[in-house]
Amino acid sequence: MIITGKYPALRLRRNRKFEWTRRLIQESNLSSSDLILPVFLIDGKNKNQSINSMPGIYRYTIDKLAKVVDRALSQKIPMIALFPYTNSKLKNNNGSEALNEDNLVCRAIRYIKKRYKNKIGIMCDVALDPYTSHGHDGLIKSNYVLNDETVEILIKQSLLQAQMGCDVIAPSDMMDGRVGKIRRNLDKNGYQLVQILSYAVKYASNFYGPFRDAVGSKNLLKNDKKNYQMDYRNKLEALREVSLDIKEGADIVMIKPGMPYLDLISLVKENFKIPVFAYQVSGEYALINNGIKKGLINKDAILESLISFKRAGANAIVTYYADQISKLLK
Ligand code: PBG
Repeated sequence: MIITGKYPALRLRRNRKFEWTRRLIQESNLSSSDLILPVFLIDGKNKNQSINSMPGIYRYTIDKLAKVVDRALSQKIPMIALFPYTNSKLKNNNGSEALNEDNLVCRAIRYIKKRYKNKIGIMCDVALDPYTSHGHDGLIKSNYVLNDETVEILIKQSLLQAQMGCDVIAPSDMMDGRVGKIRRNLDKNGYQLVQILSYAVKYASNFYGPFRDAVGSKNLLKNDKKNYQMDYRNKLEALREVSLDIKEGADIVMIKPGMPYLDLISLVKENFKIPVFAYQVSGEYALINNGIKKGLINKDAILESLISFKRAGANAIVTYYADQISKLLK
């Protein structure tokens, strides 16, 4: 129960009178320590290639990464997340490029770890969609993504990333049982301290379009991902997904997408009291950006959107605005 006064003795606007009092009263805050910067990778030399559906975001060749990481470090962004744009010639039915120790992600991890040691965290997605010729996150058989067969590959993909120096393994595939199997395999091979950030609550969402364009899977993808990613009508099911992943050894859980799912962030935080990250996905970025560009909404909407995650209970946010907003926060 809350005890409250009564108007006119109580006037809630008193605390909002000036900027300094509003600052004292504020319940949530955002700093660059709360932000994770996604970085798209592409093969080649000395290139930063713009992405049509994501104005302001680029795919970088590995030799350009030092600039990206320097900037992130100077803004005190704690971690970057690597995503590869894989040449279509390297894609096949079973996404075997995911297990190539010279694939883009592996080379990028080695490059960054060699230069920056442990000054910045590296997070890598575990899923096959950037590598498959059908754009799905796992192996398919008559339009169904196979679970256990896919997990066997994901275990190897995770171990390879850890061997390269990846700090945070982030399974985004939504296969059942993968967190436990990945954990056991990492431990068995001496990687007990590599963290697992599980995309535990990931919906089959319409907001991923621009990302699929960015990693080159958009035009390849047949059908939807509804037989493995969650139905956006469901909320209680998220509690089961999270409890499963915690028992299997997840250190942190992710809720994805972001803004349409703030209720899930708050639900999971209140029920499990564990670190919860949110992913403000590519479609959200594209919508906000286009709104600003067209003069429909103010630029401050970016900060408002990011604070909403903190208010809901997120510890950190993966956002394509990480770079831009950190500058503003400084
Ligand atoms: C792949 C993956 C996706 C995103 C992150 N990892 C897309 C998908 O599941 O289809 C989406 C991120 C974004 O939209 O910004 N498993």
